[in-house]
Amino acid sequence: MYELMEKSEIFNVHKMVIKAPEIADSIKAGQFVIVMGNKYSERIPLTVSDWNTDAGTITLYILEVGISTLELARMKMGDSLYAVTGPLGNPSEIKNYGTVVLGGGCYGIGGIYPIAHACKETGNKVISIIEARYSFMFYHEKELHAVSDQVLYATSDGSKGKKGKVEDVIREMLEKGVKIDHAFFMGCTQMLERCSEVTRPYAIPTTVALNSIMLDGTGMCGACRVSVGGQTKFTCVDGPEFDGHKVDWQELNQRKSAYAERETVVYQSYSHGCMAERT
Ligand SMILES: Cc1cc2nc3c(=O)[nH]c(=O)nc-3n(C[C@H](O)[C@H](O)[C@H](O)COP(=O)(O)OP(=O)(O)OC[C@H]3O[C@@H](n4cnc5c(N)ncnc54)[C@H](O)[C@@H]3O)c2cc1C
Ligand code: FES
Repeated sequence: MYELMEKSEIFNVHKMVIKAPEIADSIKAGQFVIVMGNKYSERIPLTVSDWNTDAGTITLYILEVGISTLELARMKMGDSLYAVTGPLGNPSEIKNYGTVVLGGGCYGIGGIYPIAHACKETGNKVISIIEARYSFMFYHEKELHAVSDQVLYATSDGSKGKKGKVEDVIREMLEKGVKIDHAFFMGCTQMLERCSEVTRPYAIPTTVALNSIMLDGTGMCGACRVSVGGQTKFTCVDGPEFDGHKVDWQELNQRKSAYAERETVVYQSYSHGCMAERT
């Protein structure tokens, strides 16, 4: 079960194609799975970026940030994951909005793909905007181009597209008078917040895929609690997508960084251990 059928690396993002026929049969755009690399691993949530019902596979893009993602990054083709649970969360709400902008950074470059695909199939004009530090860090571009009317780029060093971030591209579009009927964003929390602040003055309905810390993924443990419009929500069962103009970003950032210091120390000692093991 959950055999790794394909594995590749694009800088610090790892593509994993995993045999999971039941999930491939039922997954919808915007949903995620919770995986365990081995039986001692943490359970971590990952967005399903693509799937193939004929082959019975799902595709994940994993940004290596800590121990659990490092463990997955070290797996090889032919290895099997201990557990893959899903589909979890609610599918994206896809309608014929008109012009839809999708912004993706880090793992969100792969994560926005199925949403862009579904938006295109529903008759929307799809503009995808992706950001990375350098041009060689982009991935899944061919697929994104195939489902987008336009793909725009932002890089920190200006090596591809606009020098800056997704929100800089959107700000420029809005200042030029481009009409955007709906925006979706997926990536790090800072990016989600900054993009939401750019669309807010224009009252553009804005959906963000939150990446709060999760444990069980079933609404029982409370780990993924967020405040949205003054109401308590659980990202795993009420989300992961919420109105970006209503999220309490300060609280989310505080909750996300609760274990940051310990995570950094453990990751550093673990990854140094891995290096020692390899040499
Ligand atoms: C619905 C959802 C979808 C996601 N999709 C993807 C994806 O497709 N690809 C991808 O690379 N990442 C995705 N993430 C984030 C991913 O789950 C975390 O980066 C991962 O859990 C970090 O584990 P770690 O042990 O490697 O790092 P840690 O050392 O545990 O943490 C490093 C960072 O990850 C955050 N984090 C830690 N544990 C969790 C957790 N259980 N859930 C969420 N964040 C956590 C911490 O706040 C910290 O900033 C998603 C998160 C959610 C909630
Ligand atoms: S992860 Fe436990 S309630 Fe959401």
